[in-house]
Amino acid sequence: MKTILTAVLAVISVVSCSNPTTKETTKPENGKVETAKLSVGAELYQNKYTCFRCHGMNAKTPVEPNYPKLAGQIQAYLLQQMKDLKSGARAHGDTGAMKPNMSMVNEEEMKPIAEWLSSLSTTVTPGNLSMEGAKLYQSKECLDCHGDDANDNETEKTPKLAGQNADYILQQMKDYKSAKRANSRAKKMKRNLSDVNENEMTAIAEWLSTL
Ligand code: HEC
Ligand code: HEC
Repeated sequence: MKTILTAVLAVISVVSCSNPTTKETTKPENGKVETAKLSVGAELYQNKYTCFRCHGMNAKTPVEPNYPKLAGQIQAYLLQQMKDLKSGARAHGDTGAMKPNMSMVNEEEMKPIAEWLSSLSTTVTPGNLSMEGAKLYQSKECLDCHGDDANDNETEKTPKLAGQNADYILQQMKDYKSAKRANSRAKKMKRNLSDVNENEMTAIAEWLSTL
């Protein structure tokens, strides 16, 4: 971690302000002009707000199994969740860990963060359709909104689920069902979970996490 921090700080120290989506830096040393680009979103995530402490440097390796991966997630969905976590409209489960972090982030900064996170590549592996969770995902019609491989989305605010941490998915499903998670478009979810019991949720969450 120390080495990462040192590297990160070294990057910050040479970055200076320029245009809104990328920052350019010129290093006059060695008589050469070098240009290093660090997206504004990456800088906010990695340096200014150190979101990586919980979600991982690449946003794919959260520190706890019930913390979400953010890499490759739908941009508009990420933006909406950040707003809801900041306003408290989304307040359930472990959101208490998020709220103090979001309180410092303004809306202008949320946009480039969401843009950068959604641009990160994720690999989705073909699902094992014989798993119990795969069958339930189909029979409970999750695919209608989240797509066949859970890596697609019906609307711009419907999240991708493929490869997400199982514990995180399970907690979200329980919280939608009990209406503890009641932000933005959560009503859509609750309706669909009324006929899904906890064992079924666990199986679905396990399958989704293998993709
Ligand atoms: C102290 C740990 C911690 C830090 C630091 C943190 N987060 Fe989070 N974040 C969480 C947890 C925990 C959740 C899930 C809350 C829940 O629903 O249980 C979360 C959820 C999210 C979500 C919603 C994801 C989804 O799939 O719905 C987004 C987006 C997010 N965080 C972005 C950020 C950004 C951007 C930063 C930096 C400004 C940040 N987080 C810093 C712990 C953290
Ligand atoms: C009618 C459309 C629809 C159907 C059907 C649906 N979902 Fe969703 N799902 C959504 C929307 C919209 C959201 C985002 C809601 C919000 O803003 O919090 C969501 C969010 C989620 C989340 C939270 C993801 C995160 O990153 O926090 C999980 C997990 C999830 N759905 C799982 C499922 C499962 C499993 C099924 C099948 C039992 C299902 N969904 C069926 C529309 C749907």
